[in-house]
Amino acid sequence: MNSDKFPVIDLPAGGWSQEEFDDLELRASQRTTGVVRVGVIGYGYWGPNVVRNFHGLEDCRVVAVCDKSTDALRRVGRAYPQIRLTTDFTELLKSPDIDAIAVVTPVWTHFDLAKAALENGKHVFVEKPFTSTSEQAEVLIELAARKNLKIMVDHTFLFGGAVKKIRELVDGGTLGPLYYFDSTRVNLGLFQHDVSVVWDLAPHDLSIMDHIITEKPEAVVATGGQHLNGHADVAFITVYYPRNIIGHVNVNWLSPVKVRTTLIGGKDKMLVWNDLEADEKIKVYDKGVNITNGQSVYDLLVSYRSGDVWAPRVDQTEALKVELGYFVDCILNDRTPLNDGEAGLRVVRLLEASEKSLKERGSIVSL
Ligand SMILES: NC(=O)c1ccc[n+]([C@@H]2O[C@H](COP(=O)([O-])OP(=O)(O)OC[C@H]3O[C@@H](n4cnc5c(N)ncnc54)[C@H](O)[C@@H]3O)[C@@H](O)[C@H]2O)c1
Repeated sequence: MNSDKFPVIDLPAGGWSQEEFDDLELRASQRTTGVVRVGVIGYGYWGPNVVRNFHGLEDCRVVAVCDKSTDALRRVGRAYPQIRLTTDFTELLKSPDIDAIAVVTPVWTHFDLAKAALENGKHVFVEKPFTSTSEQAEVLIELAARKNLKIMVDHTFLFGGAVKKIRELVDGGTLGPLYYFDSTRVNLGLFQHDVSVVWDLAPHDLSIMDHIITEKPEAVVATGGQHLNGHADVAFITVYYPRNIIGHVNVNWLSPVKVRTTLIGGKDKMLVWNDLEADEKIKVYDKGVNITNGQSVYDLLVSYRSGDVWAPRVDQTEALKVELGYFVDCILNDRTPLNDGEAGLRVVRLLEASEKSLKERGSIVSL
């Protein structure tokens, strides 16, 4: 009997029954290698997507969901009566029948929750951005390595068909040497109380950029402004890479329209990815500019190339489903995820540099 270890909250459906608590040790001893048992902390806006996708995987079982809000837990209970529910995350840490914990709570809580999970021997799936500081990210990376546990940071877009296709086109040399990456992610809201638009929206673009441009970034310049609640709500981030490659991200919570468009320019081809398009999300343009010297050194011959446009097929499978399946696979087969703690740290470093530069009205921050 261990009800003092696992206090039950008063919920109509899906609550942790006494039999379940008594049964925990037994089930832990019956652990099969083919199934990853997950506990999820946080069932606000994004948590339901994480639970739904974990729940839909064959080699995964969502054992428990924790949220401080009993209203949130009631929603879980209605949708998944078999999932245990709790308001106290330490119950997940102590549960021997949980192998991995997903941290789907606000950014400032990621470090403490992920650290506690790792310390208790659980693999962790942490929402973007990984942590609030690069020091925190380094602590978690070291802890996971020491305990031989996986960290995966939710860089969701890396698992969508569009980014997969773009990476193929870049790696395969279709675009030629890259000139620039320019991403726009703007809409009206959703205002966050605890973080700026940089920490809320730019992790998406910066993680995509980090995946597509394999060079190490050299410096960041960011400008922007805060108009409503003390956090920047409009930001323009420029990232300098070697070989003259330039990255740019425009994030904005004060835009009247929603735009999700990325332009990637290469010497040989250029592409536009419009994520709001239902079908032809990516269009590749055989366009470019050639400049050659004329007879005198002052003569520049500029020629423009304007050839075909084509729309490659893009896989439409939900990115989060692919990503969570990959998380489970990395645990079962002891693989290091491409979006591991190091990838999370690279994005946090870009966010910190952007924030510093933005506060200094566009100073150059070296990385
Ligand atoms: N990958 C994506 O596309 C994507 C999209 C949206 C949000 N997110 C990320 O997901 C995270 C959560 O964002 P959200 O919009 O769902 O936030 P939210 O505020 O809507 O939900 C957070 C939930 O966590 C619960 N919570 C907070 N601290 C807790 C604790 N210590 N123990 C138990 N429960 C706790 C809250 O009660 C709330 O229900 C953030 O890191 C955000 O950046 C990612």
